[in-house]
Amino acid sequence: MDFDVVVIGAGAAGLFCAGVAGQRGLKVLVLDHSEKVAEKVRISGGGRANFTNRDIDVRQPHKHFISENPNFCRSALSRYTPQDFIALVQKHGIPFHEKHKGQLFCDRSAEDLINMLVAECDAGGVQRWQPCGVKAVRGVADGAYELDTDRGMVKSRSVVIATGGLSIPKIGATDFGYRIAKQFGLRLVEQRPGLVPLTFDADAWAPYIPLAGLSLPVQIETGAKKTRMAFMEDLLFTHRGLSGPAVLQISSYWQEGTPIRLNLAPEVDLPEALTQAKARSRKLIANELASLVPSRLADAWTQQDADWQKPISDASDKALARLAERFARWEITPNGSEGYRKAEVTMGGVDTRDLSSQTMESKQPGLYFIGEVVDVTGWLGGYNFQWAWASAHACASAL
Ligand code: FDA
Repeated sequence: MDFDVVVIGAGAAGLFCAGVAGQRGLKVLVLDHSEKVAEKVRISGGGRANFTNRDIDVRQPHKHFISENPNFCRSALSRYTPQDFIALVQKHGIPFHEKHKGQLFCDRSAEDLINMLVAECDAGGVQRWQPCGVKAVRGVADGAYELDTDRGMVKSRSVVIATGGLSIPKIGATDFGYRIAKQFGLRLVEQRPGLVPLTFDADAWAPYIPLAGLSLPVQIETGAKKTRMAFMEDLLFTHRGLSGPAVLQISSYWQEGTPIRLNLAPEVDLPEALTQAKARSRKLIANELASLVPSRLADAWTQQDADWQKPISDASDKALARLAERFARWEITPNGSEGYRKAEVTMGGVDTRDLSSQTMESKQPGLYFIGEVVDVTGWLGGYNFQWAWASAHACASAL
């Protein structure tokens, strides 16, 4: 069977690319080894898909995207913008809302978005095969490709790899894209989990286990001077370590063996509040603190030092200053992360030096890579989907 384009991977980028290419009049096949398409879209954004972010600054993409070449994503992102995708969502009558920091979510369910992507494929006469695996991809004499699939041999002028990253293997993530890149001599940037909860040694973490489930706004940072990265977001204590948007964001910048630093009360002037409380109150320090920070946190923190387990009026100025400092600068070194089992994305991937930023075509003519398989990783907040849409659109427009 002959096609103009075969897209491997019917996720966010693959379905969108197939739809746009089909509507340009190309004969397109999109295939996926999973029974259902776009499983990651389905579970994204807590089931409501944070499908883009209004605040992407296309002139400074490195602000929200991480890559060995931070400027690579600029061309695609500036030619297919969040507004373009919002217009498509509106055309399909999908209700959505902004949560915070420019993040747009479906009102009802991510299913709306999947139906939209499939409808766009149908409008372009795209053939969809799933479940259908690919055993081999070969270049053939006339510059085309032959694919050995579970449904027989397929020939195509172009092949688009949209198989995503390694995160959440239980819903179908594989290293297929990286293997194909290697097969055709393309370079890879080492992969690691991104947007992932961080873990700690069991002994070091034991005092914090009673805090599991607690969520609070924090300032979080990692790195030294030049590489310092900071976020103001919510933190979540878990049984094994730290999670929540603050930690997911910082995890993409965190280097193994280095600490993270947290200000657990960024919106409170703790030194001043504790000094004032000392002048007027005879309550225990933990009880005074509980009016400023969550009470479970106040209890856990004051238990760390005998000087903090007394009425605040009896505490020394030095002890209170130390307590305030301990809240403002809690430094702790993770022993690792929850890995691909829990990561929202895979950092690294196909090296952008071997891809065209205009078309996503690789050095190997006719072979394209789009979406998460490429070494472009966005922040939490809809940036990864916008990269999927934009890279897919750049590719589909060039096929
Ligand atoms: P995607 O993973 O979507 O699709 C890859 C497809 O390839 C899959 O359908 C897979 O089955 C298929 N495939 C893999 N190997 C194959 C093989 N060997 N043969 C055939 N098919 C194969 N981002 C965001 O912007 N907003 C959000 O709200 C969220 N939320 C979120 C929650 C969770 C829990 C996760 C894990 C991730 C997110 N993300 C996110 C990230 C986002 O889901 C991700 O970046 C995009 O789905 C990437 O799109 P791709 O099309 O590149 O890969």
